[in-house]
Amino acid sequence: MKLPHYQPKQTASAVDFLPKRRSLGSLRTAARCCKGCDLYKNASQTVFGEGPKNAQVVLVGEQPGDVEDRQGRPFVGPAGRMLDKALAEARLYREEVYVTNAVKHFKFIQRGKRRMHQKPLIRQVISCHPWLQAELAIIRPKMVVCLGATAAQSILKRLIRVTKERGKFFDGYSGATVFITIHPSAIYRRRGEDERREQYRQFVADLKLVYRRLHSTEEHSSRRSLPL
Ligand code: URA
Ligand code: SF4
Repeated sequence: MKLPHYQPKQTASAVDFLPKRRSLGSLRTAARCCKGCDLYKNASQTVFGEGPKNAQVVLVGEQPGDVEDRQGRPFVGPAGRMLDKALAEARLYREEVYVTNAVKHFKFIQRGKRRMHQKPLIRQVISCHPWLQAELAIIRPKMVVCLGATAAQSILKRLIRVTKERGKFFDGYSGATVFITIHPSAIYRRRGEDERREQYRQFVADLKLVYRRLHSTEEHSSRRSLPL
């Protein structure tokens, strides 16, 4: 039987570009040359994840934005500043977490001088997943925090409605607990100062749940490891 809409036109994926010997450094270097989908063509550079190898928490965004594309680092633009502030309020500090994206190249359309963000297609998220998977296989975090639907779809491999599933913990991704919250850019997109403030408050509240869960599991595991 033919399923025309399900036949991927493009079978390329980042898998073909992964190095044999894997460390965060070798992945980062190899990802510079990735042509696993067509997004490398218009972007300035690959924006790979960043943070300590022994991070307990990995935060996954959607894709780099304009500033990230120019600087080659994740979450260094306006969304990143908001993220850093919210993380600190939840006592999850940016220096201690690993921050990455579901898609490693900036997708945009040029409108005059501005480069407007465009949402990546599912097929591009799938093509890029091997990088994320490889990062997670090395770091082996306790918690994977998905910032928005694209990240959650890449990790949980199903369609996600963030409004329904935010604030929940899922069993999950090779040993890590998965948590879904909104993307910090969604806070900007809200109209009105009050609404933005409320969204930000909820975002911080979500991150505090992550902090609490991390520390409660730490307590359990140290209790278990006490000599009897
Ligand atoms: N938005 C993202 O999802 N990732 C970034 O790195 C920056 C903005
Ligand atoms: Fe490769 Fe991902 Fe960039 Fe596509 S978006 S070219 S899969 S790194």
